[in-house]
Amino acid sequence: MSYQSISKPIMHFLKHFEQPKVLEIGLDKGQTAIPICHNLSLLGRPFSYTGIDIKISEYIQTMFISMDNIKIAGFEGHKEPHNFRLFQKNSLEILPVLINAGQKFNLILLDGDHNYYTVSRELKMLQKLCLPSTLIVCDDYNTKWAYKDLYYSEYKEYQQIERATRPKNTEKAGVRTAIDEFVQNSNGVWGSWHPPTSTGLMDYCILYQPDNILGARFDNGPDEAAKFASCQTMKFIFNESNCKEVMALKQKGE
Ligand SMILES: C[S@@+](CC[C@H](N)C(=O)[O-])C[C@H]1O[C@@H](n2cnc3c(N)ncnc32)[C@H](O)[C@@H]1O
Repeated sequence: MSYQSISKPIMHFLKHFEQPKVLEIGLDKGQTAIPICHNLSLLGRPFSYTGIDIKISEYIQTMFISMDNIKIAGFEGHKEPHNFRLFQKNSLEILPVLINAGQKFNLILLDGDHNYYTVSRELKMLQKLCLPSTLIVCDDYNTKWAYKDLYYSEYKEYQQIERATRPKNTEKAGVRTAIDEFVQNSNGVWGSWHPPTSTGLMDYCILYQPDNILGARFDNGPDEAAKFASCQTMKFIFNESNCKEVMALKQKGE
């Protein structure tokens, strides 16, 4: 996700919400989380970021503590209501907790473990955290883990991390296999968009609900720099009668 940065163009989507809520599974060193939170903080209205990772380094927390407009849950230096939470958990363990708490997000970035077992389970749960207009951006749709499994627990630096999922014997393999199967089994509730770049296709794909989001495209504009994915504009057409969460902002004339 970080390599073909989505942090800037996705703001064109997040600007449609009065109080954008982002969930990221797998934040690693914060290559996406940091620019997303920075850009959200420039919106000048409330927002929230929730990050889940099986391994969260101390320096990540320190970086966010230093950022203006970021109020970290559980950090006593921040007295105001928090807008930033990190869960050092396995996604498969914490997602049911978020579902039971009735939480909903506008944007979900899925970039945790890269295997069929995990991604197929995550997607089934993630749909319960979605509003009609929510986008789920899935990384590694077009990388070597598309049809092959990677379990982070097999990396040397993860061997001591008990919460990392151990390899499973599954008939199917790969991130893309799990995503395509999820879309196919949804009977049209979910669709996928695999955006182009000037040289091919993005590594990620975007899942959306076609009844609620009627169209999406990158707009290159006249700017030469827009050839780079991070400079492009993302345009979305919402079915406004289904997406009350989008309407709320429009009624305010923004
Ligand atoms: C590719 S990195 C994420 C990169 C990040 N999204 C970015 O844009 O820079 C994958 C991360 O997923 C985490 N991870 C692996 N399995 C996980 C799981 N089951 N639940 C939550 N995080 C997981 C790893 O610790 C790692 O930090």
